Amino acid sequence: SEIINPEGKQKVAQQIAQKVKDGDVLGVGSGSTVYLALLAIADRLKTEQLNIKAIPTSLEISMFCAKLGIPLTTLYEHTPDWLFDGADEVDPNNWLIKGRGGAMFKEKLLISSSPVNYIIVDESKLVNKLGSKFPVPVEVFPQALLTVEKQLQQLGAVDIALRPAKGKDGPVITENNNLILDCKFDAIESGLERDIKSITGVIESGLFQGYPLEILNG
Ligand code: A5P
Repeated sequence: SEIINPEGKQKVAQQIAQKVKDGDVLGVGSGSTVYLALLAIADRLKTEQLNIKAIPTSLEISMFCAKLGIPLTTLYEHTPDWLFDGADEVDPNNWLIKGRGGAMFKEKLLISSSPVNYIIVDESKLVNKLGSKFPVPVEVFPQALLTVEKQLQQLGAVDIALRPAKGKDGPVITENNNLILDCKFDAIESGLERDIKSITGVIESGLFQGYPLEILNG
């Protein structure tokens, strides 16, 4: 997909590539900034003969690692030493909205599994108020759609949209065979991530509150 603000993204991609050490197991998030970081990492692997393994968060990133010759592994076999991922919005608390790419379940699983997490963004992602540009995506088990929608409204979601697929009819189906509800909230308070997650039928949301993250912005 098109890469907006390539300079900022390129700068943080290079910073990530410089952190790679021989033998590292890396958690790899999704999106175009991650894509640029993988290109920079692949360059280092070639010139310096480094051996690393990557645990991907999406099909798209698995395929890209395979194309670049970056060996893949899974959470069955390894725990990441560190992770890098993008974000759609970052606020002054280091809370995030992620999931434009629909991969937030695996992204959150990896961030929860990794001791060190770098979030790589260009300046356009930094916001004062979370939710200014992006809705909070919520991955939902398909048959739970109606009941989850009702409970999201009770939590303050003012606008809820079933994410449509691109290039085909019908909704987006995630890699876990679920649906995505994009939810606009007027205010995102502390605890909202936990409240959303506590709804039966919700697999995960793209809201990240209180994770140990280091934000790198270009
Ligand atoms: C993927 O599901 C998202 O969480 C991405 O991390 C996010 O959309 C960032 O993408 P870009 O790096 O392309 O802006």
